[in-house]
Amino acid sequence: MDIYNFGKELIVEAGRFIETRMTQNFQIDSKSNPNDLVTDVDKETEQFLYARILERFPEHRIIGEEGHGENISDTDGVIWIVDPIDGTLNFVHQGENFAISIGVFIDGEPYCGLIYDCMKRDLYHAKYKSGAFLNESALHQAENVPLNQSLVAVNPKRILREATRDPFFEIMAKSRSVRSYGSAALEFAMLAKGQISALMFFKLHPWDYTGGSIITGELGYKTTDIYGKDLPLLSSTSVISGNPEIHSEIIGHFTEDKSLHEFHDAFHDL
Ligand code: IPD
Ligand code: CA
Ligand code: CA
Ligand code: CA
Repeated sequence: MDIYNFGKELIVEAGRFIETRMTQNFQIDSKSNPNDLVTDVDKETEQFLYARILERFPEHRIIGEEGHGENISDTDGVIWIVDPIDGTLNFVHQGENFAISIGVFIDGEPYCGLIYDCMKRDLYHAKYKSGAFLNESALHQAENVPLNQSLVAVNPKRILREATRDPFFEIMAKSRSVRSYGSAALEFAMLAKGQISALMFFKLHPWDYTGGSIITGELGYKTTDIYGKDLPLLSSTSVISGNPEIHSEIIGHFTEDKSLHEFHDAFHDL
């Protein structure tokens, strides 16, 4: 079985693990601040993915939100970038609207992207240059919808910061309306389904966006940072994704802003 098919089976199996585990007691802790939660289920699911991947492919490397691969500093060979639960706040508060997200890279080049909406049992998947699918059905290519006719997904908490909010507010005001679903991976999935036309985040990590950017890339969506640069695999950054027309319209709001540029670079070095 190739890496792609193995990954598809694995992510569904990990989803079943979460479904079972969440019916039992689990501990909730906070990380960087009281609103940044992590549960035993996040950690155990990452460990589950890690163990299964290495059992099958001992030479592969894994980067995960909950600590695996912290010392990886190059992109040689096969690297799995995994978010065991994207949308932990939804997991804790709602018991749904969270996903497992995986991006696989070979020598730094995209190989496949996988997002599993555990409670809906929907698998979004794409192998690079082979189209993107929701379960067995092919997803459609991006339509060029302009900002004023579009729903745009954001993370409001990050965008409310004074130093960053002006361009984001301008874009939000121009859009048809704004949505915030609490899982970047599921927002990429909505983009893939054409339910929203763009998403914008001031800060995400590779495990939040690699699976989604590979899947939506197959459908003609463009994903870069706020200045139009390709996204890194080993550090955090801002993320703008959308159909090519809306992407360039949004990026146009950021390219001139020098002070934001400085803040952006300092913020993402942290
Ligand atoms: C978070 C979600 C959320 C985004 C945050 C991420 P997590 O991931 O993707 O939508 O706004 O920035 O950290 O912590 O739930 O895996
Ligand atoms: Ca988290
Ligand atoms: Ca995440
Ligand atoms: Ca997570």
